[in-house]
Amino acid sequence: MFAPVYLDHNATTPVAPAVVEAMLPFFSRQYGNASSRHEYGRAAKRALDEARQKVAAAVGAHPTEVVFTSGGTEANNLFVKGAAQAMKPGLIALSAMEHSSVRIPAKQLERSGWQRHEIGVAVDGRICGERYRAALAEKPTLVSVMLANNETGVIQDVPSLAESARPLRAWFHTDAVQALGKMALDFRALNARGVNAMTLSAHKIHGPKGAGALIVDKRVELSALISGGGQERNLRAGTENVAALVGFGAACELALQNMATRTEKLRRMRDRVVEGVSGLGARVFGSESERVPNTVYFAFPGIDGETLVGKLDRAGYALGTGSACSDAANAPSATLLAMGFPESLAKGAVRLSLGEENDTAQVDGFLNALAVLREQFAHGLATVNTAAV
Ligand SMILES: Cc1ncc(COP(=O)(O)O)c(C=O)c1O
Repeated sequence: MFAPVYLDHNATTPVAPAVVEAMLPFFSRQYGNASSRHEYGRAAKRALDEARQKVAAAVGAHPTEVVFTSGGTEANNLFVKGAAQAMKPGLIALSAMEHSSVRIPAKQLERSGWQRHEIGVAVDGRICGERYRAALAEKPTLVSVMLANNETGVIQDVPSLAESARPLRAWFHTDAVQALGKMALDFRALNARGVNAMTLSAHKIHGPKGAGALIVDKRVELSALISGGGQERNLRAGTENVAALVGFGAACELALQNMATRTEKLRRMRDRVVEGVSGLGARVFGSESERVPNTVYFAFPGIDGETLVGKLDRAGYALGTGSACSDAANAPSATLLAMGFPESLAKGAVRLSLGEENDTAQVDGFLNALAVLREQFAHGLATVNTAAV
C-alpha cells in the first residue's frame, strides 16, 4: 500500500501498540456488560473504574469528575446543551474559533430562547481581551473558550479568562482536545481559577476513536443528552464501550510518559518546518503566540490549500487543510476569518501536525517536496503530475 508520511496528527493519531494490547481482551474473553451483577460484569466494571482513574490522573481530576462520552464532539455537546437545558435561557459567550462541536450546539440554543455572543480573535490567534471584556459585560451564564486551537495550535490563557468570568458565576468550559498530551493539564488548578468543565478525546493521543470525556465540576448541573439505563451518573446512558474506554485510559497513561522529551522533539521539528515554509514564502498563522509543539498552519498567497494538500498527498505527504473541520466543504477556515485574514488567504491554509513517530528526515523530505511544488505553482505548472517529487 502507498503509505504517505503522516503529518496530520491533529486530525487523528495512530493507535499505540500498548493501547491495542490493553484493549484486546475486551473484544474476546472479557466481554461482560459493566452493569451486570456477575463476575463478567464486575470485571468490566473494574476495567472501567481503572480507565476512569487513569484519565482523571492524566489531567489532575478526581475520578468522580470524569463523564465518559463517545468523544470530544459529544463531550462538547454535553456541556453546551446539557448545561443550558438545566438553567433558564440566558447568554452563551464562546470564542469565534471554537470547534464546530461547540459552535453549532451554541447556535442551536437560539431556538430555545438563548442568546449567543461569539468573541473575536486577534491576528495572533489569541482571544481579543477587549472583546472578551465586552462579552462578559453582557453577563453570560455559559462561557466556552478552547485551550488549544486545532488549526493554529495557539494556546489561550484559559486560567485568566476563567478567572475574569468568575464574578459572573457563569459556568466556564474549555475544549482541551488538542491540548491533551501536548502540554500539562491540571483540572484541579484550572478549577480553582474558575474552569468548571473540560473536554477530552482519546483518538488525538494514540487512543481509539469514539472515546472521550467531559471532566466536570460536580456543582455544574447537566441535563443528559442520552437517557436510558443511568450509566455515567445518569449523564450518559448506554452500555459502556469498555474496550474503547480501556484504550482511552491506556493512552492517557502513555501521554504522561516522557512528555518533556516528546514535546521537545516535536518543538524542534516544528521549528524546522516553520523556518522551511517561511523561507519558501508562506505565511505562518499564530507563530508569534505560544502554541502546542506539533502544529504549523500556513498558506502561500494565491495557492489554494485543497489543491496543495492533494498534490502533497500524491507526493507522499499526508496533511490537512484548515477547512477539514468547517461546517461546509471547502469553506475557508472560520478560525482564520475570526483572526481577520481575508478569505483569499484563508482558502490557502494547510495544516501540518507532527507526531512522535515523525523524524527530521521526514520533515526535510516534506520541505523538499513543498519547494518543488512551490516552484511549479510559481511557473504555472501546478497541474503537472507530481508523482515524481
Ligand atoms: C478542538 C477539538 N474539539 C473537539 C473535537 C472533536 O473530537 P472527536 O473527534 O473525539 O469527536 C476535535 C476533533 O477534531 C477537536 O480538534
